Amino acid sequence: MLKQDKSTEQQYGYFDDQKLEYVITSPYTPTPWINYLGNDGFYGLISNTAGGYCFYRDPKFRRLTRYRYNSVPVDNGGRYFYLNCDGHQWSATGRPVHTELDEYRCHHGMGYSRFHASKNNIATELTSFIPLNTKAEVHRLTITNNNDNAKTIDLFSFIEWCLWNAEDDGTNFQRNLSTGEVEVEGSAIYHKTEYRERRNHYAFYSVNHPIDGFETDRETFLGPYRGFDSPIAIEKKSTHNSVARGWSPIASHHIKFELGAGESKTLVFVLGYCEVDAEHKWQAPNVINKAPALLLQKQFDSSEKVATELQKLADYWHKLLNKMTVNSPDKRFNRALNIWNQYQNMVTFNLSRSASFYESGIGRGMGFRDSNQDTIGFAHMVPEKVKERILDLSATQKADGSAYHQYQPLTKKGNANIGGNFNDDPMWMVLSTANYIKETGDFSILDEMVIYDGQEVATHNHFDHLERAFNHVVNNLGPHGLPLIGRADWNDCLNLNCFSEDPNESFQTTQRGASDVAESVMIAGQFVLYGQDFVEICQRIGKTDLALASQAHVEQMRQTVEQQGWDGEWYIRAYDAQGNKVGSHECSEGKIFIESQGFCAMAGIGTEQGKPLQAMQSVEKHLTTDFGIMLNQPAFTRYSKYLGEISSYPPGYKENAGIFCHNNPWITIAEAMLGRGEKAFEYYSKITPAFLQDVQQLHKTEPYVYSQMIAGKDSANPGEAKNSWLTGTAAWNYYAATQYILGIRPDYEGLIIDPCILPSWQNVTIAREFRGARYDIELHNPHGLSKGKIKLTIDGHEVDGNLIEANRYQGQHHIVAEIIA
Ligand code: BGC
Ligand code: NOJ
Repeated sequence: MLKQDKSTEQQYGYFDDQKLEYVITSPYTPTPWINYLGNDGFYGLISNTAGGYCFYRDPKFRRLTRYRYNSVPVDNGGRYFYLNCDGHQWSATGRPVHTELDEYRCHHGMGYSRFHASKNNIATELTSFIPLNTKAEVHRLTITNNNDNAKTIDLFSFIEWCLWNAEDDGTNFQRNLSTGEVEVEGSAIYHKTEYRERRNHYAFYSVNHPIDGFETDRETFLGPYRGFDSPIAIEKKSTHNSVARGWSPIASHHIKFELGAGESKTLVFVLGYCEVDAEHKWQAPNVINKAPALLLQKQFDSSEKVATELQKLADYWHKLLNKMTVNSPDKRFNRALNIWNQYQNMVTFNLSRSASFYESGIGRGMGFRDSNQDTIGFAHMVPEKVKERILDLSATQKADGSAYHQYQPLTKKGNANIGGNFNDDPMWMVLSTANYIKETGDFSILDEMVIYDGQEVATHNHFDHLERAFNHVVNNLGPHGLPLIGRADWNDCLNLNCFSEDPNESFQTTQRGASDVAESVMIAGQFVLYGQDFVEICQRIGKTDLALASQAHVEQMRQTVEQQGWDGEWYIRAYDAQGNKVGSHECSEGKIFIESQGFCAMAGIGTEQGKPLQAMQSVEKHLTTDFGIMLNQPAFTRYSKYLGEISSYPPGYKENAGIFCHNNPWITIAEAMLGRGEKAFEYYSKITPAFLQDVQQLHKTEPYVYSQMIAGKDSANPGEAKNSWLTGTAAWNYYAATQYILGIRPDYEGLIIDPCILPSWQNVTIAREFRGARYDIELHNPHGLSKGKIKLTIDGHEVDGNLIEANRYQGQHHIVAEIIA
């Protein structure tokens, strides 16, 4: 394997697959290119110049450090390290000081980021990460003097404290400018705002080295009217040991040292969070109990201890990523599936849609539909956590089967101010549960007792929750017999019951219509697809009558879509509150939409009449671009109160004819189901970052993760992406690639092998852990097909069909699967 893939090197960086890193070579990327630190409750967002912030569990209520969204310059606030040597000043992370460096690199890896900088032969290497099971960011900085004479260096750390509640911190200045409090002891600066009253937690920033001074008052550190790019402290090489009282508390250490020729020095900075029992808050009057902080500082007080933790982190990721690996003829495909897509899936598991450089961490909790869908991207990696997540979601369901659209991770309660009535929500839980059982074989999830919203004690099991989810669709049908859309379906912006004419209203929470007319063909397709899963679950747990009755509802819906949901060349999208078609050739704009094509085709509605294939041909004809498949066409050019937010966006952006990547994999899957391997691969690769290296400048967002949206053909910049990281695209494209292109598909009885690949791929090998066994699968395609009958041998024995029966195997096995016809 190549050490560094220089062939992918572009203006701003390249992949280093062996190290599982993306290496960024400029501090001035088109947008900040970020990484996530942390795995279990304590998280940090870190850009390629160390911008960003960290928080404990809830980025709104427990934010440790301040970050300025929507600021000038962009990416303002972070963990900064400033150097001054011989009067030259620079940053160890390329910014915020604008001094041009002789060398700069940022390596974003699995749960860590490493920054290399060099100026006048003074080199720095900073490694930033959150150790496993730790509520602290660790920053290890090594400074090396590569000159042939000794040098004196003044080093300054810097972070700015957020006063915990990030929303309040950014708005309530009349109070907040008076509440800030800190303590300094030894080389640690403690942030204790509001600790004197109702908070039993504080934060600290420490270094394992004596300090020559410090600042905790921002303006003293920066100097009047200066920015982070030119603090006066750095210029003057001096600090005043300021102790902040109100205003804006910060933490900055000053360390002055000499390095002989070739000499290095390593320092470890710890930015930690501590909780203390109410009875043990104080160690002396007005002096916080530092015992937990000192423990945390001691854990990382040497370079060796840090190295051990970094190794543990690497082992953790190695184990997770190794649960499924692929070696295909296309290394971009391998890179996406083996490294970055799985990594992004875990980030969406941890963060849902709460905190990114596009989600401010104060607006949104965990989405019901988003979190359910996300599980299909990591059920193979962390099945026990998926079970817990599904049950948490289930506990926010209402007794009528509907769901709160979001819940807060700290309380695990549904969000009353966002509410419910997004009528696609309930059925996503059937997908997540079925997918979990297929991965693990663990039907016991169905027996878990789970509360309905508002209950103190659970009276029903999770299966009952699924049944009510299913019935919520059955009980809410509209005039054509299709599911009522409610506030919206998967497309949050198709607001058919909103009728808003007031710019101060939220499309997401306003509902005027009676909501008993507007219907969704997308939910109909979703109901047929996941309704089948529900029926199968009923059968497998012996609920035969319920299975039969449910099957009848599914069949009825299938027929209804065939009769009421087909436009002639594609599936209609919806009926609005007046009963008019949305997404039909009869419409002047928005004639065709992607969502109903994806769901109805995946559900195989109208297969006998060739409808799925025809819908795919229409998608290709009307929606496909070089950068992916657009959501709808033609774009809406005028606002319509009957359509809502979708028509509020300028043409080509977001839900109005943007390439909304999340739904592209539905088409990929539908194409794979039809056996059209080249089409499936084409759609898969168009939105996959590993395939987009030569459009970095246009694309703008991180070239290693999916973005939610790529501008469509009607926009000013087709191909330009936005909203990177927290998107359902990650889980869905991974699911499409692994389960439908490679066709390694978990099912109740075992692992199905049903590939639909590029005809030019002759051999692919896949390693997959599955229910206690590990399979090395060789896929052979000697006849240059995409899909076909499979000849399967397991450890040299030929078996009928294409299923590896799970209960027959444990340990390591060798599978050969040949596409024979
Ligand atoms: C966005 C959607 C999003 C919704 C809810 C809308 O403004 O366009 O993509 O789902 O807000 O947050
Ligand atoms: C983003 C939201 O997080 C998701 O729930 C929704 O389905 C899409 N936008 C489409 O509107």
